Amino acid sequence: MTDDQAIMQAKEHFGKILAEQMKRVEIMKAGQDWVDYAHQKPLVIGFVDGDGIGPYITREARRVLEHLLKKEIDEGRVQTREIGGLSIEERVKVMKALPEESLEDLKKCHVILKGPLTTPKKGDPWPNLESANVAMRRELDLFANVRPVKVPEEEIDWIFFRENTEDAYVLGSQGINVTPDLAVDFKVISTPGSERVARLAFEYARKNGIKRVSAVTKANVIKTTDGKFLETARAVSKEYPEISFDDWFVDIMAAKLVDVKRRKDFKVIVLPNLYGDILTDEAAEFQGGVGTAGSANIGKRYAMFEAIHGSAPRMVQEGRAIYADPSSMMRASTMLLRHIGFAEQAQKLEMALDICGQYEKRLVITGRPGGATGEEFANYVMETMQDPELEKRWRSFAG
Ligand code: IPM
Ligand code: MG
Repeated sequence: MTDDQAIMQAKEHFGKILAEQMKRVEIMKAGQDWVDYAHQKPLVIGFVDGDGIGPYITREARRVLEHLLKKEIDEGRVQTREIGGLSIEERVKVMKALPEESLEDLKKCHVILKGPLTTPKKGDPWPNLESANVAMRRELDLFANVRPVKVPEEEIDWIFFRENTEDAYVLGSQGINVTPDLAVDFKVISTPGSERVARLAFEYARKNGIKRVSAVTKANVIKTTDGKFLETARAVSKEYPEISFDDWFVDIMAAKLVDVKRRKDFKVIVLPNLYGDILTDEAAEFQGGVGTAGSANIGKRYAMFEAIHGSAPRMVQEGRAIYADPSSMMRASTMLLRHIGFAEQAQKLEMALDICGQYEKRLVITGRPGGATGEEFANYVMETMQDPELEKRWRSFAG
């Protein structure tokens, strides 16, 4: 192929991508109302096992969740169901990041609790399929990835609003090898895409009496797309005069998160997809690692809750899957409960998780033999939740 032909081919590909993206933007602009969970009967919770340690930790989180919602399940107000077809083997079999049947099943749920799914990368034994996580976020239009991180003794209380459907992710599997020596990927940011996540972040701040929202970009270098994200977030901030707005570049923000004197001042942080991916792993480390952090993927119609970590295939290969920490999935479950209006149950679980994982630590998960198993830890959490003195016990630690 001549260089001219290669360029023509790349242009054609680019043209198609632009047409698709313009359509996506139009759909976003048309808007959609938030689903009202209070009036859904039954309210359907789907469970996706995931790969690797996924089935182990999802099982424990499900057990806790079904225990907390026992009455509602018995009364038929809440229904739970399993969604199959999403393991890496099954995805590879049909060569789809998100098999149609599974997507149909997901769409029959209101909210989903999902174990980590293997994302193949170049060089893996798997074909280089798109990430099922990314496909699910896009197909269900889960535009905000909400990730709280708390370390009370260090006064850290952050909540990240990571844009979840755009940026380097939306076309992450549609880059072009223009020639064997030249590869180009695309980063896409839209006004409605930025606006809706910024608005959610500011609404959260307003509802929770938080006086500061910080945006993170690299708008000094990635001028057009990050520039748009920043400009849009700033425009939204004008509608919230009681909340102060500031912006940071992602490199210095990565540094400030380890700055003991400054980091406690950050509260709500709103940022594009990739920076959000990176900073939330960093942030979770202060709280005890990615195994302790839950994540909510929020859309107007659907919401999906998951751990922020991967499927840890090494733990399975080494026979350590039963020692995997289900805390992240349980933290995700607290967010799920709150999202569908079960705040009281969410608070119980949160307190129990704080007691078991951070304060009392009668059982400690190390990820290895010698530490507690996920099942033992879940039993500890269930027992703690049922303690009539739960709140008193929690206050004795948390003050
Ligand atoms: C996350 C994960 C995913 C992401 C991967 C598995 C595709 O790292 O949820 O943060 O990059 O978003
Ligand atoms: Mg990540």
